Amino acid sequence: MSLSARIESAISASLSFAMKEPAPRKLAQALDHAVNPGGARIRPTISLSVAKACGDDKPILSDAAAVAIELIHCASLVHDDLPCFDNADLRRGKATVHVAYSQPIAVLTGDTLIVLAFEVLARAAEADPKRAVHLIKILSQATGMPNGICAGQGWESEDKIDLSAYHRSKTGALFVAATQMGAAAAGEDPESWTELGARIGEAFQVADDLRDALYDEKTLGKPVGQDDLNGRPNAVSQLGVRGAVSRLENILSGAIASIPSCAGEAALCDLVRVYAERLTPVLPAHHAAE
Ligand code: IPE
Ligand code: IPE
Ligand code: MG
Ligand code: MG
Repeated sequence: MSLSARIESAISASLSFAMKEPAPRKLAQALDHAVNPGGARIRPTISLSVAKACGDDKPILSDAAAVAIELIHCASLVHDDLPCFDNADLRRGKATVHVAYSQPIAVLTGDTLIVLAFEVLARAAEADPKRAVHLIKILSQATGMPNGICAGQGWESEDKIDLSAYHRSKTGALFVAATQMGAAAAGEDPESWTELGARIGEAFQVADDLRDALYDEKTLGKPVGQDDLNGRPNAVSQLGVRGAVSRLENILSGAIASIPSCAGEAALCDLVRVYAERLTPVLPAHHAAE
């Protein structure tokens, strides 16, 4: 089975569990709306790729780790789009959950997905309780306070934003969790995979800032120009377009260099190279010539 088929089938299985009768119909539909069809599924792909590079000896745990990370990511997007955060009406080319359903349903959808993520890990624990506890710990750190997604979103309510703490928590934490959880699911030491996750996360954030500044809504499937509109500090306002692109290139070459030696090292290097190409935006002519 391909990596992406494996991810989709594991996500479907976990969602159908939460949507069983007598689940309230609108909330059940909203869960599906928030998770399917997915976006790039970059975090579970990284997590499962690292698990495979480390031997993938307990696939139930590798799958659970990948699903749990993607569910937390989807939850964060549903909450992020709410009127009290970014007030966005488009996500992945379709109406956001609060527009399609309602604000109460969107709040509950995010909450449900967060709880489901941890339930998925708890259910997989029978395969290896010790590894599962490790996975739960890594994912909770990436989700909550003081360094997880909640902390990242929390920075937006501060008068002075620490840009690097903001980015590390909002975006980086879940990428670090992806590499660490892939390794932990396969029984390897997660710490040696921290740098790879941190670098991919940082590159991802710079690329997202560039796309927000350079692309249009139709291409991205979500509103653009949001960083400036919401007065959020970002790589483009700090470094300019060219500066942000060279920063992105630097981070990505460091990411490849940081991959620990393991049986699946070459395949993982290829994956990071493919993502590096996808992340680097094609610059409009006036920026390329600068
Ligand atoms: C978007 O993440 C949100 C950020 C962390 C900047 P993705 O670009 O990975 O979203 P999808 O899942 O592919 O839609
Ligand atoms: C997305 O962040 C949500 C989280 C990472 C928690 P952004 O607000 O920066 O990303 P988009 O542009 O809505 O995808
Ligand atoms: Mg936001
Ligand atoms: Mg947003």
